[in-house]
Amino acid sequence: MSTSKLFESFKLGPITLANRVVMAPLTRNRAIPEGLIPSPLAPEYYGQRATAGLLITEASQVSQQGQGYQDTPGIYSDAQVAAWKKVTDEVHKRGGKIFIQLWHVGRISHVDLQPNHGNPVAPSAIQAKTKTFVGGQFVDVSEPRALELKEIPGIIEDFRKGAANAIKAGFDGVEIHGANGYLLDQFAKDGANKRTDEYGGSIQNRARLMLEIASAVAKEIGPERTGIRISPVTPANDVSDSNPQPLFDYIVDELNKLKLVYIHVIEGATGGPRDIAPFDYASLRKRFSGAYIGNNAYDRALADKQLDANAADLIAFGKPFISNPDLVERLKRNAPLNEGDRATFYGGGAKGYTDYPTLEPAQAAQ
Ligand SMILES: Cc1cc2nc3c(=O)[nH]c(=O)nc-3n(C[C@H](O)[C@H](O)[C@H](O)COP(=O)(O)O)c2cc1C
Repeated sequence: MSTSKLFESFKLGPITLANRVVMAPLTRNRAIPEGLIPSPLAPEYYGQRATAGLLITEASQVSQQGQGYQDTPGIYSDAQVAAWKKVTDEVHKRGGKIFIQLWHVGRISHVDLQPNHGNPVAPSAIQAKTKTFVGGQFVDVSEPRALELKEIPGIIEDFRKGAANAIKAGFDGVEIHGANGYLLDQFAKDGANKRTDEYGGSIQNRARLMLEIASAVAKEIGPERTGIRISPVTPANDVSDSNPQPLFDYIVDELNKLKLVYIHVIEGATGGPRDIAPFDYASLRKRFSGAYIGNNAYDRALADKQLDANAADLIAFGKPFISNPDLVERLKRNAPLNEGDRATFYGGGAKGYTDYPTLEPAQAAQ
């Protein structure tokens, strides 16, 4: 056993996490197509991973318009809330804590997923050079249309309702998805936002939607239950900014004023190199009084290093959690990790979802 900080408890707002290991949000495309409600296997999947200090669910759209891929769950209907309640009950029964990630994909979508087969929405009518998964295959994302100014309050309202629904469903809090080239990141970064109204141009204007949503969600459920995920330099989904440091310094200063409980920072390219572009993450850490969750390509050694250097409070693991339900135990023992099966990452059933082995299945079953 180990004296690593990773296994010490941590107070996150009103809740106490058993350790500093976080399960990163992971889209698994297994929602039931009718109603886009979480899979009946989801309680078991998340329950198996409940030894993490904090679980963050797969991204869950706050409206039909916010959906960008086949079979992702929502958090806007009563049926979705009821199904999520089964997930939170199971996780809590096993002693875990769980936040839901609230999602609007913006332009990363396809007309087949949109209300009345309309165009996906974006800050500006610029098509992303990327694909989405719809109708069982990868296809180019559809051409988006620019959101009208009068539509923006409706989007903020969808996030507010999503947060209220999350609390109804028994979640300990929510994570606003501000990362990876989806709607809020599209607004924030000047590569995707060419607007000339108060949501485009200056840093303050481009950050406005993210901050208004953070403010509305915090007001609805409390800032101590509201976290946000950002990815300052990832090129994911064809979004980039000409000068990300002052943009994210400003965003984090403002999030700090809102007293959010955490910022969850993807360091580098999501799922890629941590050093893809120069960026001073310590600057974000310094500006924010709440918790800092670090993510991207962490292993035990890097987690220890960052925690010991006080560069982060919590460490989120993504892919390792797909294939290792008992990741915390394995990290503690420095035990080998199961390899993930990429063919079952996105879509399917129990295979590659709830059937990864733990270190000692016999013991775990007792
Ligand atoms: C299958 C898969 C699904 C993902 N889904 C999401 C998601 O829903 N929301 C999100 O913010 N990031 C998502 N990510 C990114 C991960 O949360 C994480 O940032 C990334 O995998 C890097 O962390 P890791 O090196 O520990 O895997 C996903 C990654 C993978 C591999």
